[in-house]
Amino acid sequence: MLENDIERVLVSQQEIEAVAEKLGKLITKDYQDKTPIFLGILKGCLPFMAELMKHLDIYMDVELMAVQSYHGGIESTGDVKITRDMDIPVKDRDIIIAEDIVDTARTINVIKNLLLHRGAKSVEVVTLLDKPEGRIKSFDPKYIGVTIPPEFVVGFGLDYEEKYRNLPFVGILKPDIYEGLSEEENHG
Ligand code: IMP
Repeated sequence: MLENDIERVLVSQQEIEAVAEKLGKLITKDYQDKTPIFLGILKGCLPFMAELMKHLDIYMDVELMAVQSYHGGIESTGDVKITRDMDIPVKDRDIIIAEDIVDTARTINVIKNLLLHRGAKSVEVVTLLDKPEGRIKSFDPKYIGVTIPPEFVVGFGLDYEEKYRNLPFVGILKPDIYEGLSEEENHG
């Protein structure tokens, strides 16, 4: 089982649901008179975006963008590349970016600046997780779910070498996983 690779659960499924509901109500209040673009950054945004959307009682467009920032490992290279762009124009639109995590804030700074450069009226960020101690660029997401210590986490969209995104909670991997032992090799 996937769960056997996890040393410790950091944010449980119940906590994530409660956080999404709380943030959803806040955003609903703030965007009552607007029709924002709710923009997810693939692939990590998917579970959180779906959870949060249930609680957004506003007219909005849903859009997706894909960027590559991490290249399969646990450290950021600082290299941010857009691999899939949005389908609709952002000029004069209010944008809410949904992120799984803000760590160094390189990715989010690049995307925010790009959208402002394209003429977006406003750009705010809602993130499930915030790792403020990881910052290399300064950035304060407007809506933060849970602030976590500078540890590498997986689950609820977050991956280690493209795995574990489908875990229903956020957790810390057992150290032997980083040492190259797969679940299969570990447990037969
Ligand atoms: P940033 O540009 O360093 O803020 O990183 C943003 C992206 O890096 C996130 O959207 C994740 O894809 C990835 N990332 C940062 N921290 C973690 C982590 O602890 N686990 C898995 N992915 C992470």
